[in-house]
Amino acid sequence: KMEEDLAEKLRPGWLQRWQIDSSRLTLGDTIGMGAFGLVTQANLRLANGQRTVAAKMVRFKDKLCYKDFYRETAILTVIHEENGYNPGKSNIIQLFGFNTKSNPKFLLLEYASKGNLLNLLRQQEEKFPLSYLLYFAIDITQALSHLKRLRISHRDVAARNVLITQQNIAKLADFGLARDVYTTAQYIPVNRQGEEQRLPLKWMAIESLLHLQFSCESDLWSFGVLLWEIVTGGTDPMYGNTQHPTCQQLVTILQQWIRLDMPAECPPDLYAIMKSCWRVDPTARPKPDVLREKLVREQEKLN
Ligand code: ADE
Repeated sequence: KMEEDLAEKLRPGWLQRWQIDSSRLTLGDTIGMGAFGLVTQANLRLANGQRTVAAKMVRFKDKLCYKDFYRETAILTVIHEENGYNPGKSNIIQLFGFNTKSNPKFLLLEYASKGNLLNLLRQQEEKFPLSYLLYFAIDITQALSHLKRLRISHRDVAARNVLITQQNIAKLADFGLARDVYTTAQYIPVNRQGEEQRLPLKWMAIESLLHLQFSCESDLWSFGVLLWEIVTGGTDPMYGNTQHPTCQQLVTILQQWIRLDMPAECPPDLYAIMKSCWRVDPTARPKPDVLREKLVREQEKLN
């Protein structure tokens, strides 16, 4: 059934074209647990050599996991089939292919050797200065511009979902919650109970919390929280003393115009950029291209 839903999203031939037989794959070390199962390193044999990739497997025979898997597969395939995806330059994680028939089903992605941005910020083995960390944020504005052109909302923009490559390029990943803004209604009244606990409340725009309304503009709100994570070295976002506010508590806080505090070492102009991402009116938030320019200017000031 879900496979049919997936096929429906993809033009004829796409589902076939991206299938990769497991015989071309040698699994390697475990990287970690993703949203729908195990992620391991793998070696993929190509016509002209081989390549290290990340294999995301659906380990749980669980409806939610399958759903995320098919959603991520569909969205990434669409992104790669549309014009304008350049694997060498894109700040969206590259898809190599998938297998929807094998057991377990798997998805093959570009391997990002430095792992996710949240861990990198928290470990800070390399101790990046803020001006350097802003490169990561600028990279992600490029990914958001691309998604906006395709009218896709990611819905889970956060440091944990940004991967860093060997060359220190930030790539947006984890498209398990992503949706096509065209084909889905702006309102998603169903699935409220089923999906609410999986929603990243503290990264969500006020209209997402209130009405489950998601858009490229609500991704921009989340991007503001990502900026805050970058400046604070990967601190868990906190509004006052409540670590885990409920949806209702968070709405009340945000409606009182309370926002995440200005971090201690944050340049005030950078905090002003974050706050502009947290405007109540989605259309009043900066567009990704404008945001990118502003961040480049902040970066120049720090140098
Ligand atoms: N590529 C996709 N997911 C990855 C992960 N979790 N770690 C490294 N590279 C990846």
